[in-house]
Amino acid sequence: MDKQLLINTANTLMAGTKGLLAMDESNGTCNKRFAQLGIPQTPEARRDWRELIVSTPNLGDCISGAILYDETIRQQQKDGTPIIKAIINAGIIPGIKVDTGAKPMAGHPGEKITEGLDGLCKRLAEYAQMGARFAKWRGVITIGQGIPSGACIEANTHALARYAALCQEAGIVPIVEPEVLMEGSHNLQQCFETTEEVLYNIFNQLYKQGILLEGMILKPNMIMPGLECPTQVSTQEVATTTVRCLLQSVPAAVAGIAFLSGGQTGEMASAHLNAMHQKDMPQLPWPLTFSFARAIQQPAMTIWNGQEINVKPAQEALLQRAKCDQSARMGVYNEDM
Ligand code: G3H
Repeated sequence: MDKQLLINTANTLMAGTKGLLAMDESNGTCNKRFAQLGIPQTPEARRDWRELIVSTPNLGDCISGAILYDETIRQQQKDGTPIIKAIINAGIIPGIKVDTGAKPMAGHPGEKITEGLDGLCKRLAEYAQMGARFAKWRGVITIGQGIPSGACIEANTHALARYAALCQEAGIVPIVEPEVLMEGSHNLQQCFETTEEVLYNIFNQLYKQGILLEGMILKPNMIMPGLECPTQVSTQEVATTTVRCLLQSVPAAVAGIAFLSGGQTGEMASAHLNAMHQKDMPQLPWPLTFSFARAIQQPAMTIWNGQEINVKPAQEALLQRAKCDQSARMGVYNEDM
């Protein structure tokens, strides 16, 4: 394992005031978002959308790394430039989603296990050769009646740790993403307890697999009540509870933490991150930033709507959200932005 390479990449991704952009939706998920807006669900339309993103002027000022999907890393812009080259030219580090999706878990109704370990070693070597320097794997945990089960937490955290080990062997920084979903009627405390349990399990599994913590990034959910919970809480409460949970369960050696947005609006996700960076919050041992997909892309995708004529305003909207998140990482975001 090339430890120094991993540490350098992880530190570069987390450096300064930037964050990550997840643009790694599977074809199915991307098509679903396109369908809601009446955009054609074709490889060309997906390519046009991703080209719009990576050619956004000055995106590299706020984004350190972009996570791609397998289809995108193999695609070229309309002028023939490989999308991965355009990303590198923009000063952004290319990454790749390597899990093959969360599938129903046998014997555990309502729960999922993420697949993709078979053949991963070979795929990572190919992605590294193409220029990817970091990767992402997402495990999904649902809170509901009697779930998550210990079996689901164990299976998903074990898979995440095995993925992380394969990445580090290949010189690729793993982003370890255990997502406790926002869907459900659970309250803030239930989200806290489940996330804490998942994180304890993750770091136990990562330890067993010999993962270099300085050469990995954690991508967790924020601690929030479920979308259907009647008791919603303030921005401040989300921030303090999230920071408390992370301080209790994430070793200080981890290179950085970059949140998923999980279906929050762009404004909400920025406000929460911003509140975690206020002066009266506890001192944090790791950089704390964003790795949003929907919270950065959604307004821009709505403006674009599949029309060439809307590319420029869509890029402006995309950059605006990325700038808001960068300001949130600095603790200087406000809603007027
Ligand atoms: O795996 C999920 C993405 O990387 C983050 O997406 O910010 O829309 O939750 P999200």
